Amino acid sequence: MIVPIEPVPAPPKRYDIIIDTLPPLRFEVPVAIVTNPTVARLHLKRVLERIEASKVEVFEVPDGEEYKTIDTVLSILDRLFAARFDRSSLLIALGGGVIGDMTGFAASIYQRGIGFVQIPTTLLAQVDASVGGKTGVNTRWGKNLIGAFYQPEAVYIDPDFLSTLPKREYAAGIAEVIKMAVMFDREFFDFLEGHDLFERSSVVRMIARSVELKAEVVNQDEKERGLRAVLNYGHTFAHVIENETGYGRYLHGEAVAIGMVMANELAVELGLLGRAEADRIRALLERYGLPVRYRVEDPEAFYEHFFLDKKTAGGKVKFILPGGSIGTHTMRDDVDPDLVRRVLARFGG
Ligand code: NAD
Ligand code: GLY
Repeated sequence: MIVPIEPVPAPPKRYDIIIDTLPPLRFEVPVAIVTNPTVARLHLKRVLERIEASKVEVFEVPDGEEYKTIDTVLSILDRLFAARFDRSSLLIALGGGVIGDMTGFAASIYQRGIGFVQIPTTLLAQVDASVGGKTGVNTRWGKNLIGAFYQPEAVYIDPDFLSTLPKREYAAGIAEVIKMAVMFDREFFDFLEGHDLFERSSVVRMIARSVELKAEVVNQDEKERGLRAVLNYGHTFAHVIENETGYGRYLHGEAVAIGMVMANELAVELGLLGRAEADRIRALLERYGLPVRYRVEDPEAFYEHFFLDKKTAGGKVKFILPGGSIGTHTMRDDVDPDLVRRVLARFGG
């Protein structure tokens, strides 16, 4: 006997992304703020002054990508149980992408799922990680390999948090902004080229447009069955670079910057991007001190490394590339491996 269950496919959950000074937030339920000592020292007092709830706890977890683990998530769950948080409770992620991804994942599994709110404090988290519901942790097998698609209740993006962010972290966020512009919006790219992205009004516009573009993608393809993969432009190369360098030399956005330059060189060879446009993208990355060079010691080994990526399917490498010019995209899984290796060899210095 077969008993079919045919749920009605639901559209992705609706929620608001508020880009403004953090407003007073009032919750009728118990709330736990998950943060780390760095962010707590700089910003927790101001956030606590704005939060009212039936109960407010603060859970600090250690700072760093190396703590983005299932053990840290278990420690968050443990503290929730110890403080007798029930299914009505809410988690608040106060921090960068590491805190956001772990808090979202903890929320997705605590008593089969409680709500969570994102208050991102790095540029990378404000323009990318806090939006779209990818949550999770790293394992020894690779980055973000355990997790869930789990959307927040709301995202509060306050650009004032960025005043304390080290310049290098800020630039790493700009790399993800440039990624969005190159893939989806030529006018936005022109705007990024024409403005100082440290200046307050440019910052707000840069965040707002990035978030709009990301929301459009997530609305169409929440679970990354197609279009959402375009957000991985530069990442196929970046993941190999991060892995080869032991995750210590480059911030993720820096590796993505190099990865975009590599993808662009491939796109130029395939006639998908003009040389002048590839040079414009490289120049914009360099303006913010982002790395654009990388010595590929062994192109063959680098190519083989693509197959360790969870996004490599059916023995084929899917390259996300500009689709003819800045502001357009294409996905190609038919690129001649010899051509890829030749392009990589040019990065050998
Ligand atoms: P991060 O969270 O490690 O933050 C970088 C550093 O900045 C940390 O030391 C942090 O404590 C500190 N910091 C945070 N806010 C600060 C502030 N306002 N002032 C001073 N210091 C501050 O790194 P990140 O770049 O924000 O995020 C990277 C993580 O995000 C990775 O784990 C990546 O996998 C994930 N990510 C997730 C998505 C997604 O869609 N969920 C997208 C992109 C990246
Ligand atoms: N940062 C890639 C994504 O959210 O899909």
